[in-house]
Amino acid sequence: MNMVERPRRLRQSAGVRRLVAETRLHPANLVLPMFVVEGLAEPRPIASMPGVVQHSMTSLAAAARQAQQAGVGGLMLFGVSAHKDAIGSEAVNPHGILAAGVRTLAAAVPGLPIIADLCLDEFTDHGHCGVLDEQGQVANDATLIQYRKMATVLAEAGATMVGTSGMMDGQVGAVRDALDKAGYVDTLVLAYAAKYASAFYGPFREAVASSLRGDRRSYQQDPANGVEARREVRLDIAEGADIVMVKPALGYLDVLAEVSAMVDVPTAAYVVSGEYAMVEAAAANGWIDRDRAVLEALTSVRRAGAAIICTYWAVEVANWLGERS
Ligand code: PBG
Repeated sequence: MNMVERPRRLRQSAGVRRLVAETRLHPANLVLPMFVVEGLAEPRPIASMPGVVQHSMTSLAAAARQAQQAGVGGLMLFGVSAHKDAIGSEAVNPHGILAAGVRTLAAAVPGLPIIADLCLDEFTDHGHCGVLDEQGQVANDATLIQYRKMATVLAEAGATMVGTSGMMDGQVGAVRDALDKAGYVDTLVLAYAAKYASAFYGPFREAVASSLRGDRRSYQQDPANGVEARREVRLDIAEGADIVMVKPALGYLDVLAEVSAMVDVPTAAYVVSGEYAMVEAAAANGWIDRDRAVLEALTSVRRAGAAIICTYWAVEVANWLGERS
């Protein structure tokens, strides 16, 4: 045996492995998505997302404080409206559930970045991310008018960032322009730049009591396409995106790696509801080691280049990392 290179030497003990690890998770990398539901008195479990709840306004504030204690990097808020209509009127109501939730968070956890979801699907009775034309198709430019109003409402409520998740063409530019004209030049835009029409959003539909029939394939990306993600990212950055996101995460690590290599803004990735549910369901059956699977999944997303990971495990993992470091 005359081996010059023995890669296993670097794997011989926990201490050496820790020393040479190329990728590290830190609580600050993790963003916790949260759901607040209009009219809810007590938090309500989401059956398809064990461990995740729909919040009341009171439980939202308490959970936000726990997340801040754990050291997470930010919070992302979705509001579930009790008053849905064709154009998503409640989305642009300064007293609507999402704006109210943002105000609650801003007061509960000062200093912690708050990302408000900027999309109409929790506010439309048809469940689409935009308004519809006479043929029932999602009308791109008419939707942008609503997004512009929604952006200023959310900024006024105290959102640090708006998360443009609707996949309308020109949405980042429209929102940036509306924010700037209203004086919110420092409100950041987190662009869901490459968002795919994914079956892995299934449990989220329960979380936001979605009324969607049909699918979003006429606006979200085809899972078959990677080059197209580069185009979406290029356009969003040209329109002023401060951060670009790839979503879902685990099935799209190739896209995430390519996007991270291509841009000079921070990249984010969203480990979505179905990705969460798969791990939880397998673990509940005793088929995988839950904690290891969770860390492996999040480490993989980080290794692929995401500076920011949106994950329903954010608080739990932040607590683990705090204990282990
Ligand atoms: C839509 C939106 C979705 C998710 C976040 N924002 C669902 C969709 O596009 O159908 C999914 C998040 C998840 O599955 O965890 N605004």
